[in-house]
Amino acid sequence: MGSFSSKIGVLLAAAGSAIGLGSIWKFPYVVGENGGGAFIILYVVCSLIFGLPLVMNDFMIGRLSGKSAYGAFRALSGTNRWQWLSWLLMATVTLLTGFYFVVTGWCFYYMVEAAKNTFAGMDAEALTDFFDAFGHQAPTMTAYAVFSIVLTAAVLWFDVSKGIERLSKILMPLLFVMLIVMAVHMALIDGGTTGLRFLFEPDFSKITPKVVLEAVGLSFFTLSVGLGILITYGSYMPKEQQETQHAQEENVVTTSVQMIALVLLVSLLAGMIVFPVVFACGFSPAEGPQLTFVTLPDVFQHMFCPTLISVSFFALMCVAAITSTISLMEVMVAFVHEASEDTRHPLNRHQSVILVALIQLVTNTLCILSMTGCVGGLTVVGKNLFDFANDLTTNILIPLGAMGVAVFTGWFVPKAKYHGSPAVSFLYMLMLRWIVPAVILVIFLESMNVI
Ligand code: PHE
Repeated sequence: MGSFSSKIGVLLAAAGSAIGLGSIWKFPYVVGENGGGAFIILYVVCSLIFGLPLVMNDFMIGRLSGKSAYGAFRALSGTNRWQWLSWLLMATVTLLTGFYFVVTGWCFYYMVEAAKNTFAGMDAEALTDFFDAFGHQAPTMTAYAVFSIVLTAAVLWFDVSKGIERLSKILMPLLFVMLIVMAVHMALIDGGTTGLRFLFEPDFSKITPKVVLEAVGLSFFTLSVGLGILITYGSYMPKEQQETQHAQEENVVTTSVQMIALVLLVSLLAGMIVFPVVFACGFSPAEGPQLTFVTLPDVFQHMFCPTLISVSFFALMCVAAITSTISLMEVMVAFVHEASEDTRHPLNRHQSVILVALIQLVTNTLCILSMTGCVGGLTVVGKNLFDFANDLTTNILIPLGAMGVAVFTGWFVPKAKYHGSPAVSFLYMLMLRWIVPAVILVIFLESMNVI
């Protein structure tokens, strides 16, 4: 990817990568499973209080070291002792991408079915049955996931990420406008306010340690922290010679705040679209990972030109998903490429693309075989592989990775490397040294019933 040409380029690329299935697919169903309003407050608070220093920190690590997650810790600490953290982050990214393509495939499938007008006249029950039937068709689901992997690998192979970036600068704002129009429309349908009340009226009795952990995990997933992805983005930030370090740090703060604001907005809009129809049309809020997919076709039936709107929306959702898969795979390719240079068999970029794509083909296919029940008994701790990878990354590996990166900067990077204003650096260091690690640790222990 080289280096970004402008500040706005960094923001749009970081937002394009961060805004993805996490906000549109995962956010609504996790909110539904965790009881609505109170969970949303936790999610927003967590994104602002923990998300902000962590996003800034990833950018700073990348920017100061000029390296991706593979070399950044070594470059900043001057030792090899932190290499395990690079591997932990990359294992998390590999596992996350290992099911992310499955859901990207769902987006393409729904776009094609919307174009065939399949959903016309279907009610809540029919839409749920439709997804259930799809959920048992391993070949179809695999074909769409493979298509998404090949598409992403082709973008990296032919090095057209810049072109995609330019295209997404037009399409992502369009997605944003569509989300706003749909959210307003859904607020006005009969019975729509029940959904909004579910979203915005907190019931604090629903909060348990496990719910708090889910809010932390979801917040980090949607903000792309705890994965090392933004470290790589930070290393691509333009470094202008004449800029003081203070001005550069200000840019990091502004970019981080704007990126977080956009992610939160998109997530909340997705909730405001899905929940009015959940309550008005008789879906269950705790439907699970299929929630967004079963409800959206119903949402479109409440709008003008349902076919046109639904095809366009699913197409834009595919764009949001693909910009995320490109950044996920790009970072894995950069990692494999760099790591292989430390071995006796260095891989070139094209070989690295093939290796990463093959790994993704295997992991995503395994997830599909397990979730469709094709290979009986392919489960871990009683969960199919898709649910297992999804829950393990969101609720355990991502918070652990975030904690590792916070401890690294807080305790092991020489302070002289930072020159921010005293108040900002004091708060920033306080968060990274003490508050983020302590809170994540307590949440972990609480949710394991240790305390
Ligand atoms: N934040 C993305 C989402 O919400 C997931 C992601 C993480 C994408 C890291 C790219 C990099 O979908």
